[in-house]
Amino acid sequence: MPDQNGKKIVFSGVQPSGNLTIGNYLGAIKNFSRFSDEYKTFYCVVDLHSITVRQVPAELRRRTYETLALYMACGLDEKKNTLFVQSHVPAHAELGWILDCYTMFGELSRMTQFKDKSAKNAENINAGLFTYPSLMAADILLYQTDVVPVGIDQKQHLELARDVAMRFNQIYSDTFTVPEGYIPTETMKIMSLSDPTSKMSKSDPNQNSVVYILDSKDDVMRKFKRAVTDSDSTIRYSEDKPGVSNLMTIYRAFTGKSFEEIEREFDGKGYGDFKMAVGEACADGLAPVRDEFARLIADKAHLEAVMKAGAEEAAFYARKTLSKVKRKIGFVV
Ligand code: TRP
Repeated sequence: MPDQNGKKIVFSGVQPSGNLTIGNYLGAIKNFSRFSDEYKTFYCVVDLHSITVRQVPAELRRRTYETLALYMACGLDEKKNTLFVQSHVPAHAELGWILDCYTMFGELSRMTQFKDKSAKNAENINAGLFTYPSLMAADILLYQTDVVPVGIDQKQHLELARDVAMRFNQIYSDTFTVPEGYIPTETMKIMSLSDPTSKMSKSDPNQNSVVYILDSKDDVMRKFKRAVTDSDSTIRYSEDKPGVSNLMTIYRAFTGKSFEEIEREFDGKGYGDFKMAVGEACADGLAPVRDEFARLIADKAHLEAVMKAGAEEAAFYARKTLSKVKRKIGFVV
């Protein structure tokens, strides 16, 4: 639903837990800034979601600043985008509870992220981990969001948010905009460098599998040098060559070259040369982000001013939806 200036709304969120990988960058964050001109954009550091897994308090706080700084380092200008921290706008938790009551146990039980995370955290399968998707639906629906840029791994949660919105609208008449996903298909999934059949994950215990946005050039080069390929030696995109194909996907994302161009460029060359080139392209692509991040993270007062202004702006929009919801449900407001 357009805002008062007639702009459509974009919302997305990133958790402040763990260091972000080039998968997070290419699959989601890099795309955020393309919306700033045409849309009213809200980008949120979703700390409420992070505590579904146990966090070290000082680290959570540090990463909240870092995630905000990273948003900005990835090209999100705080004057053109509303950047804020989820727990600073209490309407998220409030609508989250309300939507819990319109989300079915069966629906939540089918979420693959819940199944994965509860398998990995068997000692802490808390209720928040289970209802995570209805809080995410609240994030999105509070702003009457039209478009949600996310990585492919969030597609199922987004579908659920749409279902909950439609269900609520069905019961109480039109209340929420039903959001669409914006899921980039070219860089859908960046795979692990040591096991290219599984997704690159920030929590992978093998640190050589994962390239972080803030890795130094040396680290980036070393990780690509060790990346798994195969025993064939041609640089060709193919399903039966997951390692090489993953490297080609990364190279394409950083250089803008097509797979055919890449195949031609490395025709007759070996994996060693190719891996070096991918490493260089990736390190060069990340360098400006890393430099900008270093500058921003040194100025905590500025980051605090950005998050405060962002929360005020977000709260203004959120309040409108929340009071509408409360009235429709029958709360005394
Ligand atoms: N669940 C998302 C992730 O882990 C983060 C998130 C929370 C989010 N709320 C959101 C993304 C709302 C988009 C919109 O990546």
